[in-house]
Parts: sequence; structure tokens; C-alpha cells
Amino acid sequence: MSKQRILVVDDEPDICDLLKLTLERMDLTVITADCLTQANNLIANQAFDLCLTDLKLPDGSGLDLVSDIQINHPDIPVAVITAHGNMDTAITALKSGAFDFISKPLDLHHLRTIVKSALKVGTNTADRRSRDTLLGESPQICDVRSKITKVARTQAPTLIYGESGTGKELVATLIHQKSPRSDQPFIPINCGAIPHELMESEFFGHKKGSFSGAVADKTGLFQAANGGTLFLDEVAELPLSLQVKLLRAIQEKSVRPVGSEHEIQVDVRIISATHKNLGQLVEEGKFRQDLFYRINVIELKVPALRDRIGDIDYLARHLLEKLAVRDRIRLPKLSEDALKKLTGYKFPGNVRELENTLERALAWCSGTTIHADDLGLPESQPEQVTTEIEASKPSNLNLEDYLEDIERKVITSALEHNRWNKTATAENLGISFRALRYRLKKLDLR
Ligand SMILES: Nc1ncnc2c1ncn2[C@@H]1O[C@H](COP(=O)(O)OP(=O)(O)OP(=O)(O)O)[C@@H](O)[C@H]1O
Ligand SMILES: [Mg+2]
Repeated sequence: MSKQRILVVDDEPDICDLLKLTLERMDLTVITADCLTQANNLIANQAFDLCLTDLKLPDGSGLDLVSDIQINHPDIPVAVITAHGNMDTAITALKSGAFDFISKPLDLHHLRTIVKSALKVGTNTADRRSRDTLLGESPQICDVRSKITKVARTQAPTLIYGESGTGKELVATLIHQKSPRSDQPFIPINCGAIPHELMESEFFGHKKGSFSGAVADKTGLFQAANGGTLFLDEVAELPLSLQVKLLRAIQEKSVRPVGSEHEIQVDVRIISATHKNLGQLVEEGKFRQDLFYRINVIELKVPALRDRIGDIDYLARHLLEKLAVRDRIRLPKLSEDALKKLTGYKFPGNVRELENTLERALAWCSGTTIHADDLGLPESQPEQVTTEIEASKPSNLNLEDYLEDIERKVITSALEHNRWNKTATAENLGISFRALRYRLKKLDLR
């Protein structure tokens, strides 16, 4: 097999030499460029497996190179070299598609790790698997699938958000599976499910005897995920006290078990998920802004099922097939009326609710066909906010009263639609939580 080729772009000869020497020892071919123009020429005419670029170049910014490669050669991973401690540029680089960053002075051990994992990206074969599991053909879900592929190539902390049951955990798993970390552990933590007093020890481990009940040394989830991915599910539920410690662990790339004197180095990629509006929680002082900034370098939204009703038919058939295989029963047909009912339903619980609905229908249906009645879905649907507006005609000509009437209807409808969850309602209406609270009070709605 021919050697893999790396393009190193830096105008400091010393750095170029150091990189060349280190990478050649890893049995790689290294080509160097000292400016953007030269780098662009090389990339246009030769094949590369990886590019390492400094950010400050004599004829421009390395960030432009990152973006150009993203567009014209999306198969070449790029890592950037940043000045020490310049986290902001590092984050900007990750957002523009860089795979990872290395800060100066160069830590050669870190460099080797990054290069090794970057070179593994292209050889990953999990591509088909993801198409098979994140089902759907709507443009929205195709977009999520293509984002998964891109996000998997970087090490950037990623925040997945979307309503309950939309597939956030599935997306996180797929990012891991398609990433160069796929042969290392994927460790999910449900931040809402661990009792507060045990959290620190669960996350970072503890030493024997550090508190009553600590009868032996315990490895924390961070260490368990070393080399792999840590999935912080329901991240909004983290208590503030742990948010501080988590931020530290992410920044320092090390953890200290409860009762221990020593820091342990850990290399984990953080993926978080939430169905809440984290930005809003930051505003309300319930989530630390600095932590939000760190975990939210890349944001990935998973759309609600009702916003891609084109997928319902497809998903329903595939999920039914999966359930039939699992239960070893004959695959029943989905009648036209059942399908109509499914596509007309708003699915507040999204794909999970669809799955449950079908499972129930399988149990209830007699014979080989599932009819609308077997689905057990409610008759009435929460009205769409827009139809409510159209339906309300001015009963008198007082503008104030008329507008207030519309406002009341829109808000009530949105509240019902979001099952009285005010944060979700505010988000849905595109107003702040505070603005919603103000309006509820004004309209005497409770
Ligand atoms: N596009 C999809 N294709 C196939 N299955 C899906 C899809 N989206 C979700 N699912 C399935 O729906 C169920 C719910 O998904 P998941 O647990 O990932 O949702 P979630 O967003 O994490 O929900 P919650 O916020 O309630 O934790 C799972 O069984 C998952 O496999
Ligand atoms: Mg989940």
C-alpha cells in the first residue's frame, strides 16, 4: 500500500521541520507549503489524506483553507494549529469544519493521536449502517444524515436538540459509529437520572473511603469513555455544582476522582442532547453560559415528526416490519384509513410515539390488516395556531379587544399543543420565556 500523504501548511520553517520529522516517523509522506496560494495549488493538483494548517499565513487565514477544503475536497480532514490558549479561534475552526485543533507549542503526543484518528476517518465503513437505522426520506432527515457524516469527522463538542422521541440518542450513536472513535466506547449518561449526591463520583470516579459507602475505588464514566465518546443525555438537568466541574474536565481534558489527589488525563469527545431550550436556561441562570458555549460548538437539530409528515408512511412501514420480525409474526398490511389517520396525527411524542402506536396496533388488530381503529389515536387534534387565527373573526370593532382575543387563542392553542410546557410554548411562539409569562399574566391565563 502506498504511504498516506499529508499536507502541512505553515510559514514557520521550524514548525514545518518538526512536523515533517514527526509525521515521517509515522511512515507518512509529508508535503509542506508556506502560504495559502501554494497550499491551494498543491491541493488542486495532488491527492492528500490529511491537511494540517496554521491559522496565520502570510497571504491569508488558514480558516479560508478549512472552508475551501470543506467545499471542494470534503474527503480531506483538516486540523488547524492555533496559538496557545486561543480557544475562540479553535472553536471557530471547528465550526467551519476543521477536524480538530492542536495548540502551540506543539504537543507531539497529541499530534500523533490526532493524525492517527484523522487518517482513520476515510476508512470507516459505517456509512450504510446509518442510512439503515436513521430512517426517513424527507429533505429534513436527509439533511440530518448528511450532518451526522460531517459531524462524525470532527472532534468538536456537539449538541443535539429536538423534541422528545425524535431520535436524539440514535443520532448520537450514529455520530460515534461513523467517527474515528468507533472502536472505542460510547458511554451514554442520562444526566436527569443520577441522584445529585452521587453525580460527581459517577462522572469522575472515587477513591476507596472517600465517603461512607465508597468501599472500593470506582472508575468514573469519563475514564470509562476514554478514547471514545461520552453522551450527556438530558444535559439541561445537570445541577449547577456539577456544571462547574464538568466545564473544568472538558477544558483541562483531565478529571480528579473524589478523594484523590491526582488528576487523570482523559480523551473523550462530548456529545450532549436536550429537548429543552438551553439558551433560554442560560438566560434564566439555570445553565452556565461558559459550559453552554463549550458543549454547543456544533448544533444539530432533529426535526419533529409532524414537520416531516412525508416520513410517517415510510417510517410506519419500516417500523412495522421491524416489530413483525422481532415478534415473529406475519407482517400485517396498513390500511388506507390507518395511514390517513397516522399522517393526520401530530405525534407530540414523535418517532417513539409512532413506534408505540404501531406496537399497540399489532396487538389489537385482528387478522392481516391494521385499521384506523386499531391505532387507538385520539379523535381530536390540537388545532394549528394558524387556523385558529383565521377562524377568529372580529366580533366588534375594538382593535385592542380583537387583538387580545387573537393573542389569547394563539397562546392557549400553543399551550395545549405543547402540553402546557411553557418553555416549549415560548419557543414554539418565537418569544422569550419571560415574554410568555408576561402575556399569561396580562391575559389572566393560568
Ligand atoms: N429516523 C428514525 N428511524 C428509525 N428509528 C427512529 C428514528 N428516530 C427515532 N427512532 C426510534 O425512536 C425511538 C426514540 O428515539 P431516541 O431514544 O433516539 O429519541 P430521543 O430524542 O433521545 O428521545 P428522548 O428525548 O425522549 O430521550 C428509538 O427507538 C429510536 O430507535
Ligand atoms: Mg433520549
